[in-house]
Amino acid sequence: MVITEEITKYADDFTSDESAVLQELREHCYSHYADSGMLSGFFQGRVLSMLSQMIRPKVVLEIGTYLGYSALCFAEGLAEGGKVITLDVQQDTNKVAREFVAKTEYASRIDFLLGNAVDIIPTLSETFDLVFIDADKPNYSNYYNLVFDRVRSGGFVIADNVLWSGKVLLDEKDEDTAALQEFNQMVIADGRVVNVLLPIRDGLMIIKKK
Ligand SMILES: C[S@@+](CC[C@H](N)C(=O)[O-])C[C@H]1O[C@@H](n2cnc3c(N)ncnc32)[C@H](O)[C@@H]1O
Repeated sequence: MVITEEITKYADDFTSDESAVLQELREHCYSHYADSGMLSGFFQGRVLSMLSQMIRPKVVLEIGTYLGYSALCFAEGLAEGGKVITLDVQQDTNKVAREFVAKTEYASRIDFLLGNAVDIIPTLSETFDLVFIDADKPNYSNYYNLVFDRVRSGGFVIADNVLWSGKVLLDEKDEDTAALQEFNQMVIADGRVVNVLLPIRDGLMIIKKK
């Protein structure tokens, strides 16, 4: 079934509200940032929050903080004493993310690390219950391979944008599309996991390590 705009709105209307800070952050993003399409948005944010509430992770690793919207969604499901570690290279957006997170009850439970995720991940000592891959597309497969041994058995990896506006269906040869096609193929061929590609927004790949 093709999801029409009316159905999308109906789904939004019958989905629980986000917090006031998340709403403020989303509106701030849409009115100040030309690249606001990077933010997970209301409906996907509620899905990420719900998944986190179902998994109850102790440690979430997020690759791609942007303005901290999805980090705050994951924080809503943390187990007692749990934390979100979120990585990004961009100083300006990171500053804004920290300001918004500071207004919430999760201020001490979200660790912001600034730098190239490819360099930072090998320095982390934690075992991850949930990893969210949402940064530069050419590195998706690298990120998956870098984190895999550190995800606990029964833990999850979630990757955003795996439909890439439908371009994964085409024979497009641009770098991002090719990287996402390669990532999706690698996951479906990986016998160590079970996965489902959820066709919401730009496509969420949900992967469970056996
Ligand atoms: C799509 S946005 C993240 C959106 C956020 N997860 C959300 O849902 O609201 C992608 C982010 O990845 C960051 N990024 C890109 N390449 C990166 C890299 N090599 N290491 C760390 N972060 C990177 C960008 O600066 C950008 O803020």
